[in-house]
Amino acid sequence: MATVDLVLPHHRYTIRIAPGLLSELGSLAREVAPHDRAALIVDDKITDSHGPVVEASLKSADYNPLVTTMTSGEDHKNLSTVQSLYHKLLDERLERKSPVVALGGGIVGDTGGFVAASYLRGVPFIQCPTTLLAMVDASVGGKVGVNMPQGKNLIGAFHQPVLVVIDTDTLKTLPKRDFICGLAECVKHGLIRDPELFDWIDTNIQPILDLDSGALVELVERNVRIKAAVVMEDEKEAGVRAHLNFGHTFAHAIEAGTEYGRYRHGEAVSLGMIAAARLAVTAGRCESSAADRLVSLLKKTGLPTSANDLPANDKLMSIMQSDKKVADGKVRLVLPDKLGAVSIVGDTPDDAVAKAWDSLRG
Ligand code: GLY
Repeated sequence: MATVDLVLPHHRYTIRIAPGLLSELGSLAREVAPHDRAALIVDDKITDSHGPVVEASLKSADYNPLVTTMTSGEDHKNLSTVQSLYHKLLDERLERKSPVVALGGGIVGDTGGFVAASYLRGVPFIQCPTTLLAMVDASVGGKVGVNMPQGKNLIGAFHQPVLVVIDTDTLKTLPKRDFICGLAECVKHGLIRDPELFDWIDTNIQPILDLDSGALVELVERNVRIKAAVVMEDEKEAGVRAHLNFGHTFAHAIEAGTEYGRYRHGEAVSLGMIAAARLAVTAGRCESSAADRLVSLLKKTGLPTSANDLPANDKLMSIMQSDKKVADGKVRLVLPDKLGAVSIVGDTPDDAVAKAWDSLRG
């Protein structure tokens, strides 16, 4: 089993990664959150495929679990789902030491995590991500929360889990498009701080896409190490954690500008990273060869590298202005300096941003 320890001043936890690990969830949970009850929130997409294994594992470790299903999809990641989960936990009299276990993709992890952060002022939280995106990003680092009609992730908390259990076998039943979306965040990690990871993904793209068990464990472990290192340096996003937003301001504009219907998050991130890299080249901050390598690797993963159906620049740029990462009215973009290093830039001229958008249109 691969393990990554995430150590913070007042909290530490281990991220455990191995094929078949879901069947050990109960005994692993008992080591860090012993109690007679637990709440298991299961993503409706995997209720039949993975839910029973985890429920049985909790029972065999002497938990009496409250098992509930949550419909995945951004429009269910909201306060009304949170409220209905509170009612279930309260009706079953779950207590302060009863862990909340979120099994599924990032939507269930973020929502279940917000319930865990706020129920009885906070209970132990266990993340069991079953998508690549959730494994390498959302399940590590304690960001939990829900969407509001005004925007995504506007209500939330930092509530670190007590344990993250990653069963890489779950990637073998994940729809291919979802798997490929997760690769966008892996390429991002390489680009922002680990050129060797970037090269490793490039060299190993075929075994990764073939879902080779060894390649999957290595892919997830290397990415979790990066995510954990960033969170250990800057838990509350006062500095370096913002580097994880590379490509995301552009991506959010694409997602919001197309009403969240056309592009998955990872696909929008792929396009967003390319726009950001080309903007850095135009601004004289980065060699064009780095942007070219990024495009070439993203192409190999199967992610989109151009889009002829984007909204007009005015619309995209006005959405960028309303991004929650705007500070003092200025859009702060994460731009590459080279492969493996990025900077936060707050003064990019509008015409250069417009040129970056145009470059995606092929
Ligand atoms: N997904 C970005 C972060 O965790 O900070």
